[in-house]
Amino acid sequence: MLKKVQSYSSKAIDSDSGSSISIGSQMPQESGINHQLNPNQKTFSIHCLRVVLLFTKITLACLVLYQASESPFRFLPGSIHSFSFSSANNFSNSGKKDLGLKQVLKKAAMPDKTVIITTLNEAWIEPDSIFDLFLESFRIGNETSWLLKHLVVVALDQKAFDHCLRTHLNCYFLTTEGINFSDEAHFMTPSYLKMMWRRIHFLRTVLETGYNFVFTDADIMWLRNPFPHFYSDTNFQISCDSFGGNPTDLNNAPNGGFNYVKSSTQTIEFYKFWYKAREFYPRKHDQDVLNKIKYNPFTRHIGLEIKFLDTAYFGGFCQPSKDLNSVCTMHANCCAGLDNKIHDLKILLEDWRNYLSLPENVRKAQPPSWSVPQSCGPRSFHRHTPRRKNGKTRKEE
Ligand SMILES: *[C@@H]1O[C@H](CO)[C@@H](O)[C@H](O)[C@H]1NC(C)=O
Ligand SMILES: *[C@@H]1O[C@H](CO)[C@@H](O)[C@H](O)[C@H]1NC(C)=O
Ligand SMILES: *[C@@H]1O[C@H](CO)[C@@H](O)[C@H](O)[C@H]1NC(C)=O
Repeated sequence: MLKKVQSYSSKAIDSDSGSSISIGSQMPQESGINHQLNPNQKTFSIHCLRVVLLFTKITLACLVLYQASESPFRFLPGSIHSFSFSSANNFSNSGKKDLGLKQVLKKAAMPDKTVIITTLNEAWIEPDSIFDLFLESFRIGNETSWLLKHLVVVALDQKAFDHCLRTHLNCYFLTTEGINFSDEAHFMTPSYLKMMWRRIHFLRTVLETGYNFVFTDADIMWLRNPFPHFYSDTNFQISCDSFGGNPTDLNNAPNGGFNYVKSSTQTIEFYKFWYKAREFYPRKHDQDVLNKIKYNPFTRHIGLEIKFLDTAYFGGFCQPSKDLNSVCTMHANCCAGLDNKIHDLKILLEDWRNYLSLPENVRKAQPPSWSVPQSCGPRSFHRHTPRRKNGKTRKEE
């Protein structure tokens, strides 16, 4: 059965002329066939898509087989999202919620149907919280406040949703009836993983609804408009913990906390593939799995080119944007503990204010550098021990 389908897909894809990719280089030898395809092709025929869907199954089967082999990329300890999330156990969103989603997206979208999306839970809305700093960054960023009109806050629990409405933002309540909001999800626990995967599932729905998005974690400070610095020739671009200099090099270390995805057949197929791939990596979160599937030939088969954003514009504590004259966003990555994040993000915003207060000629000729990370950085992983507070962790401490 498997063999039959393989030769079928091989034949169909062979009919498109273009560059040759060797599946054998990433796959076990038995599937080492050379497929011909043109990675730049814009549209797929329906026939071809069917073949591609069949091919997904084979590719996923192969994923299991080559999971054991190490990828050339070494995962940074700090590239993970060390947040706590309320858990969501029910993935079946009702039709009513979907209608709500369409309305929210329509209201928030830019003329080209692009929205900015972030997720929010109870732990992030306390006074002096990460979310306050996130909103503040838009206000003190250079010409970024208009972007708040296009922000959709995806609330993961009732308190976060109420807070969002009070703050007069575009709000969407992702969770549905039947979910226990009082469960807290800690980093890498099954509930945490469910929440992270739910996000991938949700973002695919946004693409299927026809909207493009910039997804941003709320611990990313927006200091300049990022749109002029996005690549125009790809539908999927993602920020990096560390950027090696080549935007198409798959060995760059992506960070799922910030990405710009345009709605297209390729990106919808890719999000389906990504979500499906979780079944083959049961204890991994979306970012780890992305680090595996970025090498998978199926990604090129759908015609998707992943591009990695330069940390010079889209930086973080792992690899800061060195030049304050260029920085667009700064992420509190490579940081364990919500309090450490808050501490350093406050200093970061102070650095930015100081930079803006300098005379223009000084700013241009001798921009100051960041005084962060201080509490964040690799050492925060040794100092940080999450603990529970009143049986219910509000913050990671
Ligand atoms: C802010 O944006 C304006 C318009 O794009 C530009 O002229 C100015 O130099 C920018 N200021 C900074 C500090 O980047
Ligand atoms: C999920 O939601 C559906 C529809 O609202 C409901 O029938 C079902 O019982 C829920 N499942 C769980 C596990 O809560
Ligand atoms: C939700 O979970 C908490 C703690 O696990 C439990 O005490 C509570 O009874 C649950 N509530 C519902 C409605 O299931």
